[in-house]
Amino acid sequence: MEDLTSVDASLMQKEVLEGLSKPQRQLPSKYFYDEKGSDLFEQITRLDEYYLTDCEKEILQANINEIAERIGSDVMLIELGSGSSYKTRFLLEELSALSTYIPVDISEEFLLKTVNQLRMEYPKISIIPVFADYTSHFELPVAEGSSQKQVIFFPGSTIGNFDPDEVQTFLNNIAGITADNSEMLVGVDLKKDPKVLEAAYNDKQGITAQFNKNILVHINRVLDADFDIEKFSHKAFYNEHAGRIEMHLILSQKQTVTVGDQRIAFEKGESIHTENSYKYSLEEFEEVVADWYSVEKVWTDEKDYFSLQYLKKK
Ligand code: AVJ
Repeated sequence: MEDLTSVDASLMQKEVLEGLSKPQRQLPSKYFYDEKGSDLFEQITRLDEYYLTDCEKEILQANINEIAERIGSDVMLIELGSGSSYKTRFLLEELSALSTYIPVDISEEFLLKTVNQLRMEYPKISIIPVFADYTSHFELPVAEGSSQKQVIFFPGSTIGNFDPDEVQTFLNNIAGITADNSEMLVGVDLKKDPKVLEAAYNDKQGITAQFNKNILVHINRVLDADFDIEKFSHKAFYNEHAGRIEMHLILSQKQTVTVGDQRIAFEKGESIHTENSYKYSLEEFEEVVADWYSVEKVWTDEKDYFSLQYLKKK
C-alpha cells in the first residue's frame, strides 16, 4: 500500500530519538497520522464516546447562517490540517461567494488527492494547496484582490494538541503571516466532567488504543525500528492540574529497542507520553489568544461540551 502521508524520515528520526531520550519519554503526536493512523482517527470521530466531532457538527449546522455571514464573501478561507472532511464540504457548500480555498497540510500526496476532488465539486472556487507544517513558519499565497479577507479555519480542537508555549508560538506565526483584518474560526474543546473526557479517550471498542499504538507501528516502518507493540498498553487520563487529557503507552515488560544506530533500554512499567489534548474554559481560551486575537463570538453545543469561536486579529 502506498503511504499517502509520507514523512521526512531524517527529521522523524531526530525528533523520535530526542523525545525518547527525555526522563519522561515522549513522542510527537503528529506521528500518529500515517495512512493507518488517519483511518483510525476517522473511526474515532464516529465513536459514541468521542463527543468532539458530533458537537462541532451540531454547532456548525445550528449556526451556519450566522457563521457564513461573519465569514462573508470575497474571502480566502485557509484551512489548517486535513481538508477532506465533512466539515470542509459543509462550509464550502454554504459559502456561496467564497473566492479562494487554501488547504494547508503536511502531506503533499494526501493534499493533491483532496484538491483534485474538491476542484471537480466546486469549480467556481479557486483552490490553492499549500504543502507545509503549520506548526512551524510557512507562507501563504498573496491574495488576488487586495480586498480579499483571510479567514483561518482550524476545526476539531487540534489547537488542543499544543502546549501553552507552543500555542503562543503558533498564534504568533499565524498572526504574522496574515493581514490586519484577518479572522479565525477555531474549534476548542471545553472543560467538563472528567468522566466524559476520559471515556472519549478510552473507548470500549479499543480504537483509541489502536490509534495510540499505531505511532510505534509507524516508527517501526519508517525508521526500521523494532518496538514490540504487543508489550505496550494504552493509557489515557485527565490531568486536572494541567487541564489536559494525556495519552501514554505503558510497557508491560522491559524491552530494548533499536532506532537508527541507537539502542534504548526501557524498564517494565515505563511510559511513553504520546499526546496532550488541552481542554479550556471560555475565559482561559480568551486569555490564551489575547495577545493577537479578540474573541468576537462563541457558539457551543446544547451540552456546552465544545465551542466554535470566531476570532479577529487585534
Ligand atoms: C485530532 C488532536 C483533536 O486530541 O481529541 C483523538 C486526537 N487523540 N483521540 C484529540 C485524538 C485521541 C484529537 N485531535
